[in-house]
Amino acid sequence: MAAKTLGIDFGTDSIKIYKKGEGIIYDQKTVLAAKNRKTVIAIGNEAFEMSGKVPEYISVEYPIKGGVIASFEKMLSLFNCIFMDLTREYGRFKGSQFYIAIPADITEVEKKAFYDLVDSSFVRPKKIRMVDKPIADALGAGTDINNSQGVMLVDIGAETTEISVLSLGGIVLTKLLNVGGKNFDEAIISALRRRYNLLIGSKTAEMCKKKAVTLNGHQKSVVVYGRDVVTGLPREREVDSELIKQGVAEQADIIIDNIRKILERTPPEIASDIFERGIHLTGGSAKIPGIADYISLSVKLKVNSVTDTSGSVINGLAEIMENDKYSDNITEM
Ligand SMILES: Nc1ncnc2c1ncn2[C@@H]1O[C@H](COP(=O)(O)OP(=O)(O)OP(=O)(O)O)[C@@H](O)[C@H]1O
Ligand SMILES: [Mg+2]
Repeated sequence: MAAKTLGIDFGTDSIKIYKKGEGIIYDQKTVLAAKNRKTVIAIGNEAFEMSGKVPEYISVEYPIKGGVIASFEKMLSLFNCIFMDLTREYGRFKGSQFYIAIPADITEVEKKAFYDLVDSSFVRPKKIRMVDKPIADALGAGTDINNSQGVMLVDIGAETTEISVLSLGGIVLTKLLNVGGKNFDEAIISALRRRYNLLIGSKTAEMCKKKAVTLNGHQKSVVVYGRDVVTGLPREREVDSELIKQGVAEQADIIIDNIRKILERTPPEIASDIFERGIHLTGGSAKIPGIADYISLSVKLKVNSVTDTSGSVINGLAEIMENDKYSDNITEM
């Protein structure tokens, strides 16, 4: 059987895998459920469905935190389980070649951990190539990275926001912030707790973020279920979306401050390109209603929409894998 070539985006919230010549073959939550902290009982979306509902002896964990591997051992179990499942569908992966998209603004040790992960898996890869995430991301967001125009890319994911300035196919500036969709959810949880003494779960908070039109003019209220922290009893209540907006805006303002800081450090010629072309906003959290307008108004720049914001990294990685002209953007290990 011919060796396979695979691309992976190790997201904090979801792992996406592309198989050359085939397309995206895996896109599931980066979650592992284990019994007595040892035996894996579920992975991916199935494990995610269990979160918040399991008895004490079952743990549901995210082995990637803030864009880096938080638990190598758990991540290796998850990786091996994913490839055991994929083997059933696609045949053996032994000797495959891997392209992995890694945040640019992390330490060499953190980068190497991703390499070691794939290298020590049961798949026994033939070759592992590393690609800077902002490069893959910019390609997937539809920009032509190799032309001379400067590009600013803002990827708001689940636990990270990566702000990058690119020019001539390379990274000029990049910063990885520990702010993303989950921080927006936590801000909503604490706002509801403060205002209504109502404790909601993280899935409910995420639903509020997606449903209530948050950051632009037209506000929609939402009905949520949670626990009253005073009486301890379950309660239903209608939530003012203005409150959700405040929680979300607090986090968006941290991102905006950092966009400003990066713009201040951007060389003038590139800054003028960005001024002309605007910012490219991507990542799953770019779908927060009104966030593009909110950022655009705050930094006084146009914000370009990206068609598939959750898939920009893996789509760009696929382009790099399928096209030799991006060979300069690959680090061979
Ligand atoms: N329609 C939507 N509205 C608002 N937020 C959304 C929507 N769809 C997804 N999200 C949010 O996007 C986030 C996931 O985005 P993404 O898939 O880019 O993350 P990731 O790449 O796994 O994480 P990271 O890049 O931080 O490592 C989640 O926090 C989720 O709540
Ligand atoms: Mg991501």
